[in-house]
Amino acid sequence: MYQIRVARLNDCEPIERLIQSSVRGLAVSDYSQEQIEAALVRAWGLDTQLIKDETYFVVENDEALVACGGWSFRQTLFGNDSESARNAAVADPRDGAAKIRAFFVHPDHARQGIGSMLMQKCEAEAIEYGFRKLELMATLPGKRFYERHGFQPGNPIDYELDQGLVIEFVPMTKCISDR
Ligand SMILES: CC(C)(COP(=O)(O)OP(=O)(O)OC[C@H]1O[C@@H](n2cnc3c(N)ncnc32)[C@H](O)[C@@H]1OP(=O)(O)O)[C@@H](O)C(=O)NCCC(=O)NCCS
Repeated sequence: MYQIRVARLNDCEPIERLIQSSVRGLAVSDYSQEQIEAALVRAWGLDTQLIKDETYFVVENDEALVACGGWSFRQTLFGNDSESARNAAVADPRDGAAKIRAFFVHPDHARQGIGSMLMQKCEAEAIEYGFRKLELMATLPGKRFYERHGFQPGNPIDYELDQGLVIEFVPMTKCISDR
């Protein structure tokens, strides 16, 4: 039985381990080992700001954390705590976009609807906050999942990880119609 709850600061270490397992298992058909290991340093990982904002969630079963993901009312689109050029300014929900951030599912629990459970929670909270637009920066495995959730892809970008080493990410958006 999977349970979702708000992430706490003392979840940071298990979340970091979960993120590593997730991409080492689920991103191998889209990216090289070199890209994955460099991205774990430069792009993927925890943004502690989300935990402090209480907009980051974990999913657990009886034994361990099996997934994490969140949303943000801030401008920062993606990146982990190592990224210094972040913009933590708050987005205006009237014309700005909420960000969907850092979804990672453990490979042993993939394709069981856990990512979708996290998406429903994040989308509902962002709408409740007043946002009518969602944005994210997708990995290639993530793109297929987000398309299923109604996100439209923009032009792919080459994000520089290291000198001469880039990784392809895809910006995506979703507009929420008034219900
Ligand atoms: C992307 C990710 C979060 C999806 O989590 P998940 O729990 O497996 O997703 P769900 O089970 O809710 O999938 C819902 C639907 O999305 C689509 N989908 C999800 N993963 C997919 C994949 N690898 N390939 C194709 N479609 C996929 C499918 O339509 C799926 O429905 P189905 O299983 O009935 O066919 C997970 O694969 C992951 O952690 N990947 C590695 C980390 C990563 O790249 N995260 C994204 C960061 S931007």
